[in-house]
Amino acid sequence: MTMLKRSHYAGSLRAEDEGRAVTLCGWVQRTRDMGHLLFLDLRDREGLAQIVFPSERPGLLEEAKKLRNEGVVAVRGLVRRRLAVNKDLPSGEVEVEAEELHFFASSKVPPFQVADPPQASEELRFKHRYLDLRRPKMQRNLRLRHEAALAVRTFMNRNGFLEIETPFLINSTPEGARDYLVPSRVSKGRFYALPQSPQIFKQTLMIAGFDRYFQIVRCFRDEDLRADRQPEFTQIDIEMSFIDREDVYALNEGLMAALFEVVGEKLSLPFPRLNYAEAMEKFGSDKPDLRVRLEMRDLSAVGKDFSSDLLKGVFAGGGILQGMLVPGAGGLSRGRLDKLGDKAKSLGAKGLVWVKRQDGWKSSLKLAEAEYEALWKALGGGEGDLALLIADGREAASRVLGEIRRTWPRDAAGGKREFAFCWVTDFPLFGWSEEERKLISMHHPFTAPLDEDAPLIETDPAGVRAKAYDLVLNGVEVGGGSIRIHDMDLQRRVFKALSLTDRETEAKFGYFLEALTYGAPPHGGIALGFDRLVMILAGEESIREVIAFPKTTSALCLYTNSPSEVSDRQLAELGLKLRGS
Ligand code: AMO
Repeated sequence: MTMLKRSHYAGSLRAEDEGRAVTLCGWVQRTRDMGHLLFLDLRDREGLAQIVFPSERPGLLEEAKKLRNEGVVAVRGLVRRRLAVNKDLPSGEVEVEAEELHFFASSKVPPFQVADPPQASEELRFKHRYLDLRRPKMQRNLRLRHEAALAVRTFMNRNGFLEIETPFLINSTPEGARDYLVPSRVSKGRFYALPQSPQIFKQTLMIAGFDRYFQIVRCFRDEDLRADRQPEFTQIDIEMSFIDREDVYALNEGLMAALFEVVGEKLSLPFPRLNYAEAMEKFGSDKPDLRVRLEMRDLSAVGKDFSSDLLKGVFAGGGILQGMLVPGAGGLSRGRLDKLGDKAKSLGAKGLVWVKRQDGWKSSLKLAEAEYEALWKALGGGEGDLALLIADGREAASRVLGEIRRTWPRDAAGGKREFAFCWVTDFPLFGWSEEERKLISMHHPFTAPLDEDAPLIETDPAGVRAKAYDLVLNGVEVGGGSIRIHDMDLQRRVFKALSLTDRETEAKFGYFLEALTYGAPPHGGIALGFDRLVMILAGEESIREVIAFPKTTSALCLYTNSPSEVSDRQLAELGLKLRGS
């Protein structure tokens, strides 16, 4: 018997196909047995089509009655108009009258129904990911991911970038997370590290003269996981020579425009820019969600002379008064305001002060009339507005009010999806690690300082700003990069500030430092979180929904049960012995 082969996708049938002989292949979504007639909803990656097994073909009807959900079949038949159109289905104007049925495989009763939205727990979905992936939503998400990757490659190619692969079995890369290690069998006692990013290799490609590199590349980081973090994730990694920051911004804005065209969105360019200090002051975050149209303001200068003992105490302790105006929110109930106060406390602030101007002043903090007026003037408030204030240490006040800002209910924007991009620039070059009690790189140690701040590396490292930038979309960090140091002297000074000795840097990246001495062009780049971008394009809340085989938040693959134990023989071959075994 010759095999029935697909002529059309079920989900692609339309009214124009009427009268056409077709062969469909796919899965049984469901059957409806009417006794003298049977309807089969056949599903493939393009969607569903209805198939009718009529009473005129009793043998075929009997066969169809044996079909069970998720069985795999091929059906040959004629496309005809439906009597009752199904408006919810793209193929809903037509159906196929079956003439031949071939049964490829049956399915055990699935542990959950293949339908959107999913009814099963994430654990069960991941264990049977092959069933979960059959859902139309997952099929759409992975197709979107494919189209997004294609759009990226086309755009980068048009702009003169070469996609070059870099190795996975490498030495540790300096991105700041923990490495995944791979023991070497040949060199016992030695380990490869999987790349946290191709950072050193892409810079090396610049030294090698490739000028414009990109790669859609898997990266590995052993870090605590969240909705937008996976232990293995994908970057659009980019590096360019003979450029400055403006070139990186312009290229990436073009790339984002091309990417969002995939979902029919026209982005408005260029993206707004904020420097780090401004972002922290106005939004209490280095990844502000600009869909929330509220801004914070440091009101310390205004509040310094206020009569309140509470404020006096905070200022005496070196704290600040952080404020935020919420226009038109003067009607917010006492209950809601109390809840906000509880939230501020649970986030680690001492408390939250509210002031309203609604038929006179109302506030949780007693101030003089003139003091309320002064606050209102500084905030640009009017009648019917609400102000939220936090008096506390700088860090707590900014962070907590920033979090209240971030989670403030947004206007519905007319039901339209909003894509609020911004660049956050001029990050500090160094941060302080309490754990290691030393300066660490905020980005990575190859990031260049601002020219005007370079003299401060030895004298005031905390004040040195970097030629580093993040791309932020709707409060999510979707990319980060920098202009690199291409001058060995400057690189040495940065290493020194990071308390890395010559011996340590030599042992860690000696090969790269040597490469830098053979003519390194000025260069810089960025890496974009591809999973995060696709997540936002798809309107999902977690990157797990746009990755075919994701890990759980405990970094497990529930489908294959990795990580798993290995045999003593494998360990012995690698020269390894487990502690306690
Ligand atoms: P960075 O560490 O900022 O920079 O990473 C770039 C982008 O990758 C995404 N990302 C992640 N996505 C999912 N899961 C994770 N665990 C994860 N970690 C990071 C984020 C982030 O903005 N080599 C530098 C880039 C450069 O300097 O050119 C780097 O990797 O969206």
